[in-house]
This record gives sequence, structure tokens and C-alpha cells, in this order.
Amino acid sequence: MTNLLITGSAGFIGSNFIHYLFHEHSTQLRIVNLDKLTYAGNLENLSNIEKQYGGSRYHFVHGDICDAELVKKVFQEYQIDAVVHFAAESHVDRSIYGPAEFINTNILGTFTLLEAARESWKDRQDVVFHHISTDEVFGSLGDEGYFLENTPYDPRSPYSASKASSDHLVMAYHHTYHLPVTISNCSNNYGPYQFPEKFLPLMILNMLEGKPLPLYGDGKNIRDWLYVEDHCSAIWAIVNHGKRGETYNVGGENEWQNVDLLHKLCQLMANKTGKTPDYYLSLITPVKDRPGHDRRYAINCDKIKKELGWKQSVDFEQGLHKTIDWYLSNPDWIQNVKTGAYKNWLDTNYIKR
Ligand code: NAD
Ligand code: DAU
Repeated sequence: MTNLLITGSAGFIGSNFIHYLFHEHSTQLRIVNLDKLTYAGNLENLSNIEKQYGGSRYHFVHGDICDAELVKKVFQEYQIDAVVHFAAESHVDRSIYGPAEFINTNILGTFTLLEAARESWKDRQDVVFHHISTDEVFGSLGDEGYFLENTPYDPRSPYSASKASSDHLVMAYHHTYHLPVTISNCSNNYGPYQFPEKFLPLMILNMLEGKPLPLYGDGKNIRDWLYVEDHCSAIWAIVNHGKRGETYNVGGENEWQNVDLLHKLCQLMANKTGKTPDYYLSLITPVKDRPGHDRRYAINCDKIKKELGWKQSVDFEQGLHKTIDWYLSNPDWIQNVKTGAYKNWLDTNYIKR
């Protein structure tokens, strides 16, 4: 039995990861989900897991990763021997208009977890602290080139700077205290349960309501898209077989200009809803660019493929269908998110454009 602490797993990727684990690897695990339930945390994402495994192989702890006493208690009470650390403030636009929470959660929260792990594990090497990070720490690419694991860090938003800082802390704990750590730096995820502030769910939901589709700047920024389940399988491969003290890039090898992706989405949505593609295309509305908007991200993920035998399993067309179908068949989830946290988020008017 491994006692696995997963932070932030009421959010998008974390909840998909828990689904993935119980689906693929349920037998040997006891999972503890530590989540503060910010606007982005939603226990509805895990209601079936709670029903099936709650109190036995799945435990939810409501709390803040910055709370040192609580984190220490969780390590002791559940005899934690592996950590997968997702909890973070994750949205770039929010970091631009309100960076303080990013510094607290992403940097101090990671530090608090590292300290608890160091104190609890001492010199143990049969444990692992896996830190989930982003390709955004590497900065912005021009037309050519790819991010490699040894690309120098060049974060350019408060979000990416806070993630870069936490990556450095994790590695420092390995070099200084021999804490067995691994890091993954992943590209843009998409799939079910993603909070509708991010590009794909925001566009899908706005299309359903006939609202404008806000395209930042000239729409030619490039992102590399990976289906969330493929990120989950990469994380699990690293936790189990990754070399301690190493980082692994994870990506979709699937670059899209935002404008092209939005056109594709209009076409797919039209096929599914009976509206015309032109109807959705007419909703596209160019808006003021994100300040400091990184132009292009592109991941080279040869290392994890060669060393751990991981590869992507969901092609983009298939992944987009699965994602759109999920949002179309979960109107209650959408309604709950929109009348609760999402509504509050809109009301706070973070994005002033
Ligand atoms: P999310 O915003 O959907 O979820 C974040 C979760 O963390 C929420 O459940 C929230 O309640 C929780 N949380 C926030 N602050 C907390 C705190 N102080 N204590 C405890 N819990 C807290 O994020 P996501 O998109 O699922 O991203 C998860 C991780 O993956 C983040 O570390 C992010 O940087 C990284 N990442 C995301 C992507 C992506 O495309 N979404 C890509 C690469 C890396
Ligand atoms: O690359 C990994 C990162 O991907 C993760 O670390 C972040 O947590 C995650 O949020 C994501 O960051 P991005 O900034 O790339 O994702 P976002 O969905 O916010 O935006 C994707 C692209 O679409 C980006 O170029 C900005 C643009 N965009 C976004 C929104 C929300 C628009 O044109 N219009 C929009 O309304």
C-alpha cells in the first residue's frame, strides 16, 4: 500500500489524475486529497470517487498547503510516502491582475510541503515528492526551436515566475537534503472538468450561450495541446520509474495557433449542435492582448519517451471530440460552476478588457 498525498486534486488535472489512478491502478493505493477549494476547486469533480472509496482508499482534507501545522499532521496521520503536488494558482491572466496569491500558494505552499516531507521522511529514499510544473517556466519561443529539460529558465508572467521559483526550491531540496524528488514540465492540458476561464472551455461555453469569443491580440500565439489523461499517465510513469533529482518535459507535440484552433472548434461545435460554422465564427471577437503574452510554447518530450516509454495516446481530433462531448453532456456541472465560483470570478472582473 502506498499512501499518496495529492494536493489540489479538486481542480482540473488533479481530479482527472485521481480518476485515472482509480481506473488504472486502484489496488495498491490510499489517496489523500488536500485542497483548499479555491474558486478552481470543485468536489463535484470527485463525487463518484467519494461515493465509492470515501473513508477507505480516498480521503479528502479541506485545507491550505501553506498551513504548516495541517500539512505536518496530514503526513503523520496518513503515513504519507509519496506526494504528487498539483495545488497552485494556475491562470496566467489572474496572476497579472492579482499576483499575491500566486506567490503564497505556488512558492510558500510548495516550500511548506517540502519542509513537511523533509521532516517526516528524514533520509528515506523509498519515497518520492513529484512536483507538477509547466513549460511556461522556459519563457517564450520564436518560430523555431523547442523547450528541452536543460533550456534555461526565463519566466515572464507572475504565474510562470512563481512556478519557476517552486521548481528551483524542489531541486534545491534534492541537492541539499537528498529529498527524492521529480519534476514534470508540461504544456497546455485540455479535457473534462477544466474551469471555464481557460481557452477551450471558455470558448465552448461561450459558443453554447452565443456570447463573444474573445481572441487575444492577433490570435497567432501558439500553444502545444495535450489531452489531460496523457498528462496523468506521464506523471504516473515518472512517479514510479523517473530518476530522482530529474525533470521530464511532457507535451502533445501538437502546436496550434489560437486562431486556427478556434476555427476548428467552431467547425466541431457546429457539427454537434446543428448551428452553422459561420454562426460560431461570427462570434469571434479580437480583444486587447494579454500583457507580456508569450508567443509560442513547444515541448521536446523525447526524454520521457526514450527513458520511461511514455507516449501520447489520444490524438487531437479524438481529444477535442471527447472534451466537447463532456461539456455538452454535463449541463449541471456547467450550471453549478457558473452560478457559484465562476459567477463570482466574473463579478470580480479580473480581466479588464
Ligand atoms: P486548477 O486551477 O484547475 O486547480 C488548482 C487546484 O489547487 C484547485 O483545486 C484549488 O482549490 C487548489 N488550490 C489552490 N490553492 C491552494 C492552496 N493554497 N492549498 C490547497 N489547495 C489549493 O489547476 P490545474 O489546471 O489543474 O493545474 C494543476 C497544476 O498543474 C498546477 O500546478 C499548474 O501549474 C500545473 N499545470 C497546469 C497546466 C494546464 O494546462 N492546466 C499545464 C501544465 C502544468
Ligand atoms: O503551458 C502550460 C500552461 O497552460 C499552464 O501552466 C497554465 O496553468 C495554463 O493555464 C495554460 O496557460 P495559457 O496561458 O497558455 O492558457 P490559457 O487557456 O489561459 O490561454 C491559451 C491561449 O489562448 C493563450 O495564448 C491566451 C489565449 N486566450 C486565452 C483566453 C482565456 C485567448 O485568446 N482568449 C481567452 O479568452
